[in-house]
Amino acid sequence: MEKAKLILDKDFTIAQIDPRLYGSFIEHLGRAVYGGIYEPGHPLADENGFRKDVIGLVKKLGVPLVRYPGGNFVSGFNWEDSIGPVSQRPSRLDLAWMTTETNEVGLHEFAEWAKKADSSVMYAINLGTRGIDAARNVVEYANHKGGTYWSDLRRKNGAEDPLNIKLWCLGNEMDGPWQMGSRTATEYGRIANEAAKVMKWVDPSIELVACGSSGSGMPTFGSWEYEMLSECYDNVDYVSLHRYYGNPHNDTPDFLASTMDLDNFIRTVVSICDAVRGKKKRSKKLNLSFDEWNVWYHSHEQDEELHKKEPWGRALPLLEDIYNFEDALLVGLMLITFLHNADRVKIACMAQLVNVIAPIMTRNGGGAWMQTIYHPLMQTSLYGRGTSLRCQLTTEVHDTRHYSDVPNVDAAAVLGDDGSVTIFAVNRKLDEDVCLDVDARSFGSFTRIEQSVLHHDDLKAVNTEENPDNVSPVSLPAQKADGSAHQIRLGAASWNVIRLIKE
Ligand code: AHR
Repeated sequence: MEKAKLILDKDFTIAQIDPRLYGSFIEHLGRAVYGGIYEPGHPLADENGFRKDVIGLVKKLGVPLVRYPGGNFVSGFNWEDSIGPVSQRPSRLDLAWMTTETNEVGLHEFAEWAKKADSSVMYAINLGTRGIDAARNVVEYANHKGGTYWSDLRRKNGAEDPLNIKLWCLGNEMDGPWQMGSRTATEYGRIANEAAKVMKWVDPSIELVACGSSGSGMPTFGSWEYEMLSECYDNVDYVSLHRYYGNPHNDTPDFLASTMDLDNFIRTVVSICDAVRGKKKRSKKLNLSFDEWNVWYHSHEQDEELHKKEPWGRALPLLEDIYNFEDALLVGLMLITFLHNADRVKIACMAQLVNVIAPIMTRNGGGAWMQTIYHPLMQTSLYGRGTSLRCQLTTEVHDTRHYSDVPNVDAAAVLGDDGSVTIFAVNRKLDEDVCLDVDARSFGSFTRIEQSVLHHDDLKAVNTEENPDNVSPVSLPAQKADGSAHQIRLGAASWNVIRLIKE
């Protein structure tokens, strides 16, 4: 059997992992809100119309942060439409997704939902069709205690206490021509800087995310980051990255190698942040917010048809990717990549959370179930908290259509507060098991090893409402361990969570 070797040392660490690495995203798009988190009349809806089955699945996922309300949607959104008596809120055309937004769920309702889901809100402001006035007002509305027009309006609307939103996005994908009000890097950098200034004047405790490129494939990628940060570096805290991968040509080895690109993307943005820091002679370091990431391609054709058939519909089933087993492997690899870069990637939001390119699916009036990609995210959110360890990994490599020297095995390791070490590992080989030799000498002895494996013989296998556990992790019998050297079998095409436990 092929061999790989992983050396871990408690003194070789990358960083403390920010729990916000396991964030998510809900946009007013498709059935994410209406039919996803909110469905009054559903047998499992609570007194506010929120689906309790969905809240249960979100809580199990352990989502500390949810980005809201967009996405492309936010660039045409008037936040004021989403407050006050629901019956008086306007319905508007959403030009981002060619649908109609009724504003039945707005700022207060979403903040309430987030609380029920044990999460917090990361709120995006509109820097497409709006500007700094709307930006400062919404911070005053959400976070100022009272005694001013906007804060008293919030109180009148039912929230006596501030909503206390600590993390804000300065627009969304402002480099993209598809964005309402897209801008050049300098135009965006200037408005982001002015918005950031006034928002922080209203509430100095907030943190702000500036829009990086909407993808590393954009023609302006790199120069966008450099130019816009040259304008707003001092007033922002994070730069955003967005990346979706797909396997439209059914080339699985190449698809599973996509995290080579992801890692390169992250390192490039880090370098640019640091270049601007150098140019400006600042001590402040910017970190990254990977606030949209996932697999997205399955639903593209279906969405085109739907738009032709039903323009301006409400809560249409858009972007409903049905994820298969190989997608779960890539999601696991993406999480491993974030853990490798935990020193600079502090926030990551899987896009999205429910129904829209999501780990959780629902049927209107029916059930809620976990897609394949739910599992690696849930397991990493559960065990990937603590310190990210530097992995000294020796493994054979292979070439794919777009990548060379792709490691057959990729792995990340996390030291938990309880002294356990969790290894997340993917065997990219589709037809060969690999024996992973783990050398964790400096940790002393472990007493028990647990291994959970996600595998399916069919790379295209999916979960459905009728067969929700078709692709789900299986726990292998726990092994006794009386030392720190261990040999672990990684099955062909598998996601593995290996827990080294001390008792
Ligand atoms: O997540 C779906 C869309 O992808 C978001 O609205 C946008 O920001 C990105 O292009």
